[in-house]
Amino acid sequence: MRLSRLIGLLLVILITVPLVSHYYISKIGEEAINNVAAEGHHRTRTLDHVEEISTAKVSDLRARIEELRKIKASVNNELRDLESKRQKLHAEISGYNTHIESLKSSYEATNLEFQKLKVTIENTRIEQEELIKRNTPEVLAPQRILPPIRHEGHTDPPGSPSRCLMHNCFDFSRCSLSSQFPVFLYNPEEYNFADVPLDSFIKSSVTQALNASPYLTYEPSIACVYLVLIGDVLGGLRNTSSLEQRLKQLSHWNGDGHNHVLLNLARHGGNRDVFSSVNTGRALLVQSTFTEQQFRRGFDVIAPPSVGEAQGDVWLDLPPIVPARRKHLLSFHGRLNAPPLSNLSALHSNLLSSETEQLLSLEKTIAETLKRMEVKFPADNFLFDVTCANSKAEECLNGEWALCGTAESRTTILQQSTFSLIIAPLNYSVISTVQTQLRIYEAFKHGAIPVILGKYTELPFANEGLLQTDKALLRLPKQRVPELHFVIRSIPDVDVLEMRRQGRILWETFFGSTRKIMDSVLAILRHRLNLPSFPVRDVPTPSVFNDSFIPLTEVVTDPEPDGEVDILGPMETPMASLRFRHNFSLTVDPHPIPGDPFHLYPYTPFEPVMPGEAKFRGSGLGFRPIGKGAGGAGKEFSEALGGNHPREQFTIVILTFERESVLISALARLKGLPHLNKILVVWNNHLPPPMISFGQILGSKFTQQVVKTNKNSLNNRFLPYDAIETEAILSIDDDAHLRHDEIMFGFRVWRENRERVVGFPGRFHAWDVNGESWNYNSNYSCELSMVLTGAAFFHKYYAYMYSYVMPQAIRDKVDEYLNCEDLAMNFLVSHITRKPPIKVTSRWTFRCPGCPQALSVDHSHFQERHKCLNFFVEVYGYMPLLNTQFRVDSVLFKTRIPHDKQKCFKFI
Ligand SMILES: *[C@@H]1O[C@H](CO)[C@@H](O)[C@H](O)[C@H]1NC(C)=O
Ligand SMILES: *[C@@H]1O[C@H](CO)[C@@H](O)[C@H](O)[C@H]1NC(C)=O
Ligand SMILES: *[C@@H]1O[C@H](CO)[C@@H](O)[C@H](O)[C@H]1NC(C)=O
Ligand SMILES: *[C@@H]1O[C@H](CO)[C@@H](O)[C@H](O)[C@H]1NC(C)=O
Ligand SMILES: *[C@@H]1O[C@H](CO)[C@@H](O)[C@H](O)[C@H]1NC(C)=O
Ligand SMILES: *[C@@H]1O[C@H](CO)[C@@H](O)[C@H](O)[C@H]1NC(C)=O
Repeated sequence: MRLSRLIGLLLVILITVPLVSHYYISKIGEEAINNVAAEGHHRTRTLDHVEEISTAKVSDLRARIEELRKIKASVNNELRDLESKRQKLHAEISGYNTHIESLKSSYEATNLEFQKLKVTIENTRIEQEELIKRNTPEVLAPQRILPPIRHEGHTDPPGSPSRCLMHNCFDFSRCSLSSQFPVFLYNPEEYNFADVPLDSFIKSSVTQALNASPYLTYEPSIACVYLVLIGDVLGGLRNTSSLEQRLKQLSHWNGDGHNHVLLNLARHGGNRDVFSSVNTGRALLVQSTFTEQQFRRGFDVIAPPSVGEAQGDVWLDLPPIVPARRKHLLSFHGRLNAPPLSNLSALHSNLLSSETEQLLSLEKTIAETLKRMEVKFPADNFLFDVTCANSKAEECLNGEWALCGTAESRTTILQQSTFSLIIAPLNYSVISTVQTQLRIYEAFKHGAIPVILGKYTELPFANEGLLQTDKALLRLPKQRVPELHFVIRSIPDVDVLEMRRQGRILWETFFGSTRKIMDSVLAILRHRLNLPSFPVRDVPTPSVFNDSFIPLTEVVTDPEPDGEVDILGPMETPMASLRFRHNFSLTVDPHPIPGDPFHLYPYTPFEPVMPGEAKFRGSGLGFRPIGKGAGGAGKEFSEALGGNHPREQFTIVILTFERESVLISALARLKGLPHLNKILVVWNNHLPPPMISFGQILGSKFTQQVVKTNKNSLNNRFLPYDAIETEAILSIDDDAHLRHDEIMFGFRVWRENRERVVGFPGRFHAWDVNGESWNYNSNYSCELSMVLTGAAFFHKYYAYMYSYVMPQAIRDKVDEYLNCEDLAMNFLVSHITRKPPIKVTSRWTFRCPGCPQALSVDHSHFQERHKCLNFFVEVYGYMPLLNTQFRVDSVLFKTRIPHDKQKCFKFI
């Protein structure tokens, strides 16, 4: 302060002195000259009058004038001197001024640094307090309880096997909560339960599925469940007593077969119940055929038929979801396999003959109603055949509507039908048959929404909570057949499409291949036992640097931090997100289908939020409410993350490709970013990296890793590396130029929209009317449907989804074009959430201006992106992207606020 006042004073003196002196000196000089000149003139005039000229006087005058001229010149010289002095002083002053300025700005910078430090220190203090609180014993998974080596004396199942349920027939002690659900499979090569051989496809595909399963154990003594593969056997079992004998001889049957699961998977329409008169002890049954009396709800499992592939992508044979309305509104093909009326009494021995006749007449009514509908509403183009007129009927149970034709002929019909009718068997006790299940399976597969007449029919994997079949089909009592037409006509396109989409997703997730079916069976059993599923696999993060690597120091000049004039948050020590906290709660709900019901995830974006006051009353660990809950603008806001979730950090994943200098400046720009956990550089290059340590650039405080990749693939960008320890991932291109405040803002927005992609550059998919296809478009637009992952936040859950659950064909396409991985991610997230991404701030592009041209400008790159869009639509069966006209700016953006208040962010 004193210095500046002094300098101020000096300034005044220095400016006034030269100015005043200059003014006076020039005044005196001019006056002198003017006086002399005036005098001269006057004299001349006088002499003219008197005409007496003295030459001496003239010369005298001349001399005087000359003298005065000299004076003037010397005064001028003096003036010049003074002027140059003035200029020198001036320069000195401006020198002092700049010095003042630089002192001022360095004071401001120091002050900002000081404020930042204060925020950081306060944050560290809270962190430490929390550490002490958290140190109260952390819950760890208990030691695994091993089952007893010898099962002491078996008891008979309660009453009879028909009374078996989980609580009285299943030995839970074999399946300790931390046992990871070990499953033992009796080698189907060694055991044969029928006189005829096991279907070879079932044998090989089930073995294959189990071998790929993390639950398989070769150690029967510790197994939780024992799988026994019994069918499909061609022609069925003829000698049931022999089956019973062979079951009893199983090495771990232990007298009553507890924890055994008997599988009879239907590969052929002729598959039948093989257990009807067999004493299966305490074993669970898995098959497609069940009667009401036989089926033990919550114990046995109704399986779909295993008529698909063994494993792999299943989307190839599926028709598109759109258009909603297909050629036929409803189709049905079948022939009632019923004896003439006179034989009915024998058929329904448990029913009165009159009731039997009623049943049959109901079936007749159905057939007649269908015929009437066909005639009366030709516009709906019904396709009914109740006699299998043009094709062969499959062999089936008595009282059942047999399937007509071949799988191919049925496919053709189903792919042209909006709805597909499925009529339950005559006998109310028959709750599931192979043919009913086959009809449901084929209807889902080909997108003909199943309409099941007969509410007593059980659905595949029914009553298990793992899957909700009811969203994908209609079930009506048979008596409603006269209202059938009204009901299906009333369903709007939007529901038709959603039901079809759900059916397709169910089919793809649970039924599509033997692998999926076996995964589902195991998931259902595990779910009943409340055992968490197998944790999803992280990808190891090998470093590109080997042990002998000695980092060279590369001096990188600090780039001018742009937009970093604010405090954006405390600098924290790296902190991983908490993992696996829901092992025994919410294990199913947080997984939406589409998704992965077969693995346990360390975290998902779908976890619930707590009631508002919980964080102030007892559950506040980790929360950073703004102004400690009192709220606040700029200052308080920058000090705390706020929001509805505890504090957390994010990981930056940079994919780089042969551009070291671009990468290095990208890393330098990220220095000093708050809430950053780690930077992971994916070194997508077969060439070794430059011998510099990127840590040097960031300062040792930042952990960063450079991952070696096996091949140059853009899919590497989304691998779920184990080095990523936070839920939030910020994926950026090496040439993406984002300011710190933009990144911070994006992170805060993502925290409130954890299930969405939140990022900066928006793009959209546009319908090409002439080409009848989708085009990729990057023009400015008021609508967008994608946010490029060259600068976007997303949840690590989607890295798992992208790498393990998304169809392989999409990743292959990304590799084929070396392009489109960002489109694929947007498709995936929109498919799972049915929500568009979120665009933050006004930025539409994000490339750094001085960087070498990115690939994305060339023409073929765009052409590929059009192709990708249309290919991905084929894989998903529909266009999952959704439009949005919504952009997020910070709350006080463009709001006028009092001068003493700060905004959340100055520029965004
Ligand atoms: C939850 O499951 C994970 C993965 O299996 C395991 O690492 C963790 O210890 C489990 N935690 C608890 C409390 O059971
Ligand atoms: C059925 O199997 C049992 C035991 O294996 C055998 O004793 C019996 O003869 C068989 N019956 C027929 C009809 O094959
Ligand atoms: C109907 O019953 C008669 C005598 O009980 C029997 O001969 C005939 O084969 C049966 N018909 C059918 C189709 O089952
Ligand atoms: C109808 O189902 C019941 C129960 O399974 C059975 O007793 C009866 O024989 C069945 N009738 C026919 C024709 O299958
Ligand atoms: C480590 O890498 C350097 C070059 O990248 C190579 O010359 C050296 O042989 C490697 N050392 C080991 C132990 O692999
Ligand atoms: C983008 O906008 C320009 C200028 O308006 C237009 O010529 C071009 O066709 C647009 N590109 C696409 C893909 O729509």
